[in-house]
Amino acid sequence: MPELVVLRDVQDSELRHIEDYLKVGGYQALKKVLLELKPEQVVDEVKKSGLRGRGGAGFPTGMKWSFIPKNVDKPKYLVVNADESEPGTCKDRVIIERNPHLLMEGIVIGSYAIGAHCCYLYIRGEYYEQAQILSLAIEEAYQHGFLGKNILRSGYDLDVHLHRGAGAYICGEETGLLESLEGKKGWPRLKPPFPAVVGLYGCPTVINNVETLATVPRIMERGADWFASLGTPKNGGTRLFAVSGHVNKPGTYELPLGIPLREIIFNYAGGMKDDKVLKAVIPGGSSCPILTADEIDVKMDFDSVAAIGSMLGSGGVVVMNEEACMVKVLLRIAKFYAHESCGQCTPCREGTTWLKNILQRVNDGQGRPKDLDHLMGIAFNMIGTTICPLSDAAALPVRSFIQKFRKEFEYHVHQKACDVAQVMV
Ligand SMILES: Cc1cc2nc3c(=O)[nH]c(=O)nc-3n(C[C@H](O)[C@H](O)[C@H](O)COP(=O)(O)O)c2cc1C
Ligand code: SF4
Repeated sequence: MPELVVLRDVQDSELRHIEDYLKVGGYQALKKVLLELKPEQVVDEVKKSGLRGRGGAGFPTGMKWSFIPKNVDKPKYLVVNADESEPGTCKDRVIIERNPHLLMEGIVIGSYAIGAHCCYLYIRGEYYEQAQILSLAIEEAYQHGFLGKNILRSGYDLDVHLHRGAGAYICGEETGLLESLEGKKGWPRLKPPFPAVVGLYGCPTVINNVETLATVPRIMERGADWFASLGTPKNGGTRLFAVSGHVNKPGTYELPLGIPLREIIFNYAGGMKDDKVLKAVIPGGSSCPILTADEIDVKMDFDSVAAIGSMLGSGGVVVMNEEACMVKVLLRIAKFYAHESCGQCTPCREGTTWLKNILQRVNDGQGRPKDLDHLMGIAFNMIGTTICPLSDAAALPVRSFIQKFRKEFEYHVHQKACDVAQVMV
């Protein structure tokens, strides 16, 4: 059994109340940090650990923290991204439900490291119950002196505010999130300037994912070297993989970075349901290019998955068997992005709608001979041409599905029927 970092004390249980968390050594890492270490030392330790952001892009966390300017006469903010809206992803929710104080402890350590005295926790609107859990955790942390003024008599102050979103995927993009927090429409901002310099209310800001911050207390407790040794070079630690689809045991598993995808599917998720044949896997949430069954020996770390043309993303592993129609799956994904595009950029606003409309007619048996080339062309023009990466997120699946399963798409266009359905009859 691999060593656990985030779910160590809560693999099959919950530690919702602060008393239970304190019993397993909770807030000890914070004590050490506030009473023994300078903020720069915390940043250095996190850098050394090889921790990379768990929100999707895998940016090195310590490096991100070090971008916060030191000598500015402005408040600094830590913003926690609990928007968790990427289809296939449900891991931050597990942390919030099972161990909210681990996140709280990570928040205080992260805020201290960047010199923030105010933190906003932005949670997706649909996570109503999870927002209540966090609200209670914040209250308990204040009552026990882990938040507020002069935390643990260290002279350090921090306030945490919980903010509920209203159910828009684009508010998970960090600058869309900042706009939304400021009370505006969640439209992503042009970058540069980056949030580390001009972020919330124009002040230096770090935005971190829930899982990223929940990992930090363990790093401070057991050291950067221990954490780094759990993963692969430049990919420290473990991460939560949310496995869904045609497997026997769907669920959220904490496993070392670098574990082969095959092992996740066949050892941990119990293998294929009803012994059906594996056809395809989305390795890290709906925006990641699809993998075929013969690509599952890939190591699940950021660099190895990128090397075969996909992304580790937010860790949402979607497994599909031989009965999954690739046209239908892609149409479902395209509908999602067309609905969630904020509409600011022409390639994204128009492109996502055209992808959806063309895929709909291919699916409905009304596809035209040039449709597949049109889809590829539209997707090509959507990549790298917009304000935020949602456009790429919509285009990349289209390109990979058609490249890897072209015959199936052609069958739909030319035979006006579903290849998979034919096989199954
Ligand atoms: C369209 C879109 C949606 C996103 N949704 C989320 C999300 O729900 N949660 C999240 O943590 N990051 C999300 N991200 C990534 C964030 O922009 C940002 O990179 C992340 O919160 C940084 O945290 P990390 O460095 O700890 O990974 C999204 C990005 C894009 C482009
Ligand atoms: S790429 Fe799409 S979602 Fe992102 S800002 Fe442009 S229109 Fe909005």
